Amino acid sequence: MSNLYIPELARIVGSKEETSSIRTITVSMQNKKQLTVHPGQFVEMTIFGYGEFPISVSSIIDNKGAFQTTVQEKGKATNETRNLKNDTTIGIRGPFGKGFSLEEMKGKNVYIVTGGIGLAAVWLLLDEILKDRKHYGSLKLLHGARKPSDMIYKDSFVFNNQEAKRKGIEVFLTVDDPDKTWKGNVGLVTDLFKKTNITADNAVVVLCGPSIMMKYASKILIDIGFDESQIILSMERRMQCGMGVCGHCMIGEKRVCLEGPVFHYTEIKESLDKVF
Ligand SMILES: Cc1cc2nc3c(=O)[nH]c(=O)nc-3n(C[C@H](O)[C@H](O)[C@H](O)COP(=O)(O)OP(=O)(O)OC[C@H]3O[C@@H](n4cnc5c(N)ncnc54)[C@H](O)[C@@H]3O)c2cc1C
Ligand code: FES
Repeated sequence: MSNLYIPELARIVGSKEETSSIRTITVSMQNKKQLTVHPGQFVEMTIFGYGEFPISVSSIIDNKGAFQTTVQEKGKATNETRNLKNDTTIGIRGPFGKGFSLEEMKGKNVYIVTGGIGLAAVWLLLDEILKDRKHYGSLKLLHGARKPSDMIYKDSFVFNNQEAKRKGIEVFLTVDDPDKTWKGNVGLVTDLFKKTNITADNAVVVLCGPSIMMKYASKILIDIGFDESQIILSMERRMQCGMGVCGHCMIGEKRVCLEGPVFHYTEIKESLDKVF
């Protein structure tokens, strides 16, 4: 088995601007082995000379080791993704962590609630559900961003009602701060709960986004009748090893990199107030 502390080499084979500070990067593993990754898992990406960061895998492109991640500039290493050219060598460790359980969602209404870059972390989950659409009930994506210009995946079904309908998903978008071009909802993503008439009946809700959004969304969902066991959160913490050894990513007793990043609300609720 390869040493999980040592990154495997990979090449940048594409980069697409999503917003002025977010881009979707296509990576190809040098060993040409398919990355076996479950929705919700992450890899550690090294930009040599700048650092390493955990990043969700948002799409698997082929069975020869090509995949995509969507990266927001946040600091030393992620800022450098702006300068990555095709053919640049980077490092990849992983995949790591426990992802979403598709089995748990089958036969249920699935409501996915995301804020900002959080959409990237559930993109592979959406892809898996849409590929096997008939095994799930109603599927709704409720997504919020601060401004229209912060919206990602503008070329996808998220911004194309007809394609969304054809795929079997209802999409509801909202922004806090609209501009003249924006014709959609204005307000917080949690304001969409009423508008979309989501109910607890045979449902699971997936939350992924800023801590403050997940905190209030969980509270409101419980207030409107969801059981705590129906709420699933994808969490972010600062990480180092990414595989349960260093203890950098703890939420209470849980290591986000190993027992998460996907948790049931019930698993971490005692510690959430310290995190949020
Ligand atoms: C499991 C997981 C999945 C992730 N998936 C994605 C993704 O798909 N797309 C994406 O853009 N980002 C994602 N992130 C966040 C990403 O890892 C951080 O933005 C990145 O580590 C910042 O590294 P840096 O070296 O650029 O910034 P640094 O220079 O290390 O830090 C810059 C600033 O960001 C803060 N920061 C760093 N990491 C985090 C964190 N994890 N949570 C909150 N604040 C942080 C620091 O406190 C500091 O203020 C994910 C994080 C985790 C744990
Ligand atoms: S990052 Fe080391 S234990 Fe989670």
